Amino acid sequence: MTLDLAVTDTQAQPNRDKPTLPDAQTVTAVKHWTDRLFSFRVTRPASLRFRSGEFVMIGLPGDNGKPILRAYSIASPNWDDELEFYSIKVPDGPLTSKLQHIKEGDQIILRPKPVGTLVLDALLPGKRLWFLATGTGLAPFASLMRDPETFERFDQVIMMHTCRGADELTYGRELVENLRNDPLLTEMFGAEFADRLLYYPTTTREDSPLMGRITDNMTSGKVFADLGLPPINPEEDRAMICGSLAFNVDVKAVLEGFGLREGANSEPREFVVEKAFVGDGI
Ligand SMILES: Cc1cc2nc3c(=O)[nH]c(=O)nc-3n(C[C@H](O)[C@H](O)[C@H](O)COP(=O)(O)OP(=O)(O)OC[C@H]3O[C@@H](n4cnc5c(N)ncnc54)[C@H](O)[C@@H]3O)c2cc1C
Ligand SMILES: NC(=O)c1ccc[n+]([C@@H]2O[C@H](COP(=O)([O-])OP(=O)(O)OC[C@H]3O[C@@H](n4cnc5c(N)ncnc54)[C@H](OP(=O)(O)O)[C@@H]3O)[C@@H](O)[C@H]2O)c1
Repeated sequence: MTLDLAVTDTQAQPNRDKPTLPDAQTVTAVKHWTDRLFSFRVTRPASLRFRSGEFVMIGLPGDNGKPILRAYSIASPNWDDELEFYSIKVPDGPLTSKLQHIKEGDQIILRPKPVGTLVLDALLPGKRLWFLATGTGLAPFASLMRDPETFERFDQVIMMHTCRGADELTYGRELVENLRNDPLLTEMFGAEFADRLLYYPTTTREDSPLMGRITDNMTSGKVFADLGLPPINPEEDRAMICGSLAFNVDVKAVLEGFGLREGANSEPREFVVEKAFVGDGI
């Protein structure tokens, strides 16, 4: 991907003490969840329109002054005035070794060109929508879960999120709990809204109430039994996958085993896939 950093329409207020970056946005909040996970919010360029679930390129200037840009899913919904991101901290990562130190008032680079496959338009209509994520792969679903259109299109949304340890689930858990009690969504969809957003968090390397890989919990039928749902079928169920390459490949095979087919923006079908990161290990 070419990195043209033309100055664009922006709401960011230049900080008089620092040079203004091209495509600069100002950090409005930062929260550290664990020693390897944090989230942050930035101002939204006035020109930026995106579909919930899409990603953009964000970054910081490198030591040589050239920008270090990486793909990031927008974790906030498309109606939000600001943009939220949920990030890993890779100790020696070119971007995140620096990005993890950002503070309110700092600037980051944000190229306002959203793209991605995890969009509602890439799926055929259905009854239930499954969000299947590991680690920071939750981010696009943090956007889609907060978008009322998701609940206009589907009767039930099931967020399955798996991490190695329980503390890695906290960002997603708080988000789902807040959404279930959200007064606006309850007003829009009625008191039964909370029952339409199901949450199935599991860990694989630390004890927690629900355990196991997403693939295993689907093939064994445990998740369907636990949630009181029928097994996934192509007539009623749609899915979106976001995790490591190995996770995506394995979940795709499980969904295909249930008779679902992979779709795309240009050809909506029963499920779509996107990588949460490129590479095999830190
Ligand atoms: C479409 C897309 C969307 C993305 N969205 C997000 C997002 O919302 N949040 C986010 O934190 N990252 C996201 N990433 C990954 C992101 O682009 C960077 O790789 C990440 O910020 C690390 O950058 P870095 O320069 O520090 O290290 P890099 O050199 O980019 O990565 C170093 C190594 O760290 C590992 N790694 C990178 N990212 C992750 C991750 N998220 N989780 C676990 N291991 C990882 C990989 O093994 C990689 O080889 C996304 C990637 C893609 C392709
Ligand atoms: N998470 C941490 O606390 C931690 C700490 C330091 C370094 N790291 C490094 O960071 C990198 C990324 O770690 P991560 O934990 O974010 O991602 P990850 O290794 O992809 O694991 C995230 C979750 O996905 C599950 N998973 C992995 N592959 C799968 C597959 N093919 N099918 C179904 N489920 C699958 C894992 O289960 P399993 O546990 O069964 O594999 C785990 O619960 C790794 O190289 C790791 O060594 C992680």
